[in-house]
Amino acid sequence: MQAASTGIGTGTNANASTNKCKLVILISGGGSNLQSFIDNSINGTLNAEIAAVISNKADAYGLQRASNAGIATDVIDHTEFDSREAFDETLKQHIESYAPDLVILAGFMRILSSDFVQHFHGRLLNIHPSLLPKYPGLNTHQRALDAGDSETGATVHFVTEELDGGPAIIQASVSISTDDDASSLAEKVLQHEHVIYPEAARWFAEGRLKLDGNHAIFDNEKLPVTGIQFNQLENQK
Ligand code: GAR
Repeated sequence: MQAASTGIGTGTNANASTNKCKLVILISGGGSNLQSFIDNSINGTLNAEIAAVISNKADAYGLQRASNAGIATDVIDHTEFDSREAFDETLKQHIESYAPDLVILAGFMRILSSDFVQHFHGRLLNIHPSLLPKYPGLNTHQRALDAGDSETGATVHFVTEELDGGPAIIQASVSISTDDDASSLAEKVLQHEHVIYPEAARWFAEGRLKLDGNHAIFDNEKLPVTGIQFNQLENQK
């Protein structure tokens, strides 16, 4: 269901009343990816309106970033619910009250139930700090270091029921040098996250990106399992 997506006929995923793609962004922490969405929406690189930011943690700094930008915020504390399903149902209702075209998980550190994921099928994106399909889950950069990898990175993907396993859209890689540790890598990778995540949302807003079954489709072509390689895109410029 894409109730708010009234750009039918224009081929875009823009809301008819504002002509912008309406986003709801979910966070749990610092919100630097949220900030890149705010900045790209303000400077017009991304034709989007952030309708609300929702956090499962009341002390998430990202809530302050949203308030500073005049964006509505909600806190839904998962510890106040008896089950994952009950939390997800309330979260789903809050999100739908804003009728978004696209839902953005930006450092939202909760596993989502099948019902939730299915409800938002095709309009739910996540960013994960690894070169998926490598290292789903936590501590990704440390795992890349422990494995002796020469690079790490981040992947934007559609969310499906498989944890960090949905079809990849775009991926950026960063070389690992001998003096790197997990926190230096996280910092370097975040800089790339701030570029590739709004880029993927821009493609969605423009109607160039969609989910078809378990495949990401970009400009009518099926994307490879690792998505578009950002570093190659940059080299072509
Ligand atoms: C980002 O590195 C994001 O990729 C990661 O959390 C960080 C959030 O940073 N997400 C996950 O690990 C999800 N599995 P931010 O709050 O500064 O945007």
